[in-house]
Amino acid sequence: MNLIDGKSVAAQVLEECRSETATLLAHGITPGLAVVLVGDDPASHVYVGSKVKTCHDLGIHSEKITLPATTSQQELLDVVHRLNADPRIHGILVQSPPPPHIDEETVIRAIDPRKDVDGFHPQNVAKLTLEDPSGFVPCTPAGCMRLLAASGIDTSGANAVVLGRSMIVGKPMALLLLAKNANATVTVAHSRSKDLPAICRCADILIAAVGRPEMVRADWVKDGAVVIDVGINRIADATKKSGFRLVGDVAYDEVASKCRAITPVPGGVGPMTIAMLMKNTLQATRQITEISPQ
Ligand code: GUN
Repeated sequence: MNLIDGKSVAAQVLEECRSETATLLAHGITPGLAVVLVGDDPASHVYVGSKVKTCHDLGIHSEKITLPATTSQQELLDVVHRLNADPRIHGILVQSPPPPHIDEETVIRAIDPRKDVDGFHPQNVAKLTLEDPSGFVPCTPAGCMRLLAASGIDTSGANAVVLGRSMIVGKPMALLLLAKNANATVTVAHSRSKDLPAICRCADILIAAVGRPEMVRADWVKDGAVVIDVGINRIADATKKSGFRLVGDVAYDEVASKCRAITPVPGGVGPMTIAMLMKNTLQATRQITEISPQ
């Protein structure tokens, strides 16, 4: 079994970002990312903190906007409109999920698609479907593809099963695997699929993105499969100071020995999401300022 080290692949991506940032700075352009967080979900605060810290490490300007859970839809839209108009900001991300009274779809549509570094705006979803590289690819699935490539895993002709159909991971992941530069045979399975274990057992490449702790068991996985675990679930653990530990959507301890390769949680997909966000922010900066890559 091969452990796919997300931290080390993310570090390579961040080194590329460092050099791309230097090129932009040499043109007198400082890339800028705004991260908006509404409410007090503790995990979201951790993720947003890591995003801002990574910007700082690379020399990317960042603006962190934390708003109370009581923020109205209109107040949030006003923030997005201000960021759309701000020339120092090239990327805008509104952390998901927002509180329930916020209509996320309306907020996403309000983001200038040229600054939509999450790739959630319908214009970017269309570009992903059309395989148009000027669009933004959602960070987590982009990170999964990069992990597969860095691990020397050939997707062409492989049976790929994507477990989960979210806008953030499942759907874009399926499109990326299906694209002409990947050529996988793709099945998307979800909570209403009949006999999930049998579907997963067909996978040469299994992407688990359902948000259910350790749902994928040993008998769901074919011998020699590649398993990418997107889940980051907090489960109670009294032995930890925080009172919880992180587990994936895959029961790692029983699955790992069957796999050709598997990502751990933490230290697998998580660091890649942030690294790909930096990539997307630099892509947005280049496209908005019309600076070509070095
Ligand atoms: N919540 C979990 N993952 C993501 C992500 O990639 N982008 C945003 N905006 N929110 C998230």
